[in-house]
Amino acid sequence: MNKAKEQRQFMKSKFGKNESFSSDQMEGKPQPPLTNSVVNPDNVIVLPEFGEDIFVKTHILDIINDRISHRKFKNESISLEELSFLLWSTQGVKSVVGENYATMRTVPSAGARHPYETNLMINNVRGLKRGIYRYLPLTHQLEYVYTPDDMVQTITQAARKQKFAGDCAVTFIWSVVPYKGEWRYNEESHKPMLLDAGHICQNLYLACETIGCGTCAIAAYDQDLLDELLQLDGDDHFSVYLSPVGKV
Ligand SMILES: Cc1cc2nc3c(=O)[nH]c(=O)nc-3n(C[C@H](O)[C@H](O)[C@H](O)COP(=O)(O)O)c2cc1C
Repeated sequence: MNKAKEQRQFMKSKFGKNESFSSDQMEGKPQPPLTNSVVNPDNVIVLPEFGEDIFVKTHILDIINDRISHRKFKNESISLEELSFLLWSTQGVKSVVGENYATMRTVPSAGARHPYETNLMINNVRGLKRGIYRYLPLTHQLEYVYTPDDMVQTITQAARKQKFAGDCAVTFIWSVVPYKGEWRYNEESHKPMLLDAGHICQNLYLACETIGCGTCAIAAYDQDLLDELLQLDGDDHFSVYLSPVGKV
């Protein structure tokens, strides 16, 4: 069997096939935290509520029909309110179930595990200094992490020289914490966790279309470079998908 044929097996469902299946949840081990926690409270920024005045389109047929991938953006900032809307649309928490057992969000997730964190490369957002940030979905806040030297050049390099990855107002970068899915579904969680990312990014496309912005999904990137830029360990937490956003 050639390599591609061998690896494609990973795309198939294995649910119910393994009779000796067990998971940490079945063994009664405590579940991992719902989301990342605040590292430095001094760096937390409360996101504003957004109103419908930021919408340029409201008809769902137009929004779905007009969606395309944009790789060129205007040299314009976006507002904090617009960023707040994009973050809520992609990972916003609507409710918490049980004693911090699960979150219900604006996107679906296999087993409501929601294994993704949202990292942002902020380049041109009114009211925010440039830098790397993390979204805190439970409180709808941002945490500023740091401002790397040559941030735009590094993200462009990490996206295999795709210039629009850094030539934008903000880049959304989703990173996965695999144990969040593995705790319940063990090795069967990997395929569903990747499927989750598609829902998140599609909501970004549609939310962008609603407010006169555009985006383009990127899966071609350098794993080590992007993880390093986001200060992720690359093993228990690593990047999976990114999508730059700007006015179009
Ligand atoms: C999983 C995924 C990965 C993608 N990766 C890239 C990429 O690395 N670079 C790029 O320019 N476009 C990328 N795209 C965008 C596709 O090229 C685009 O969706 C496709 O050409 C169809 O065009 P449309 O989105 O305008 O309908 C990706 C899209 C998806 C869904």
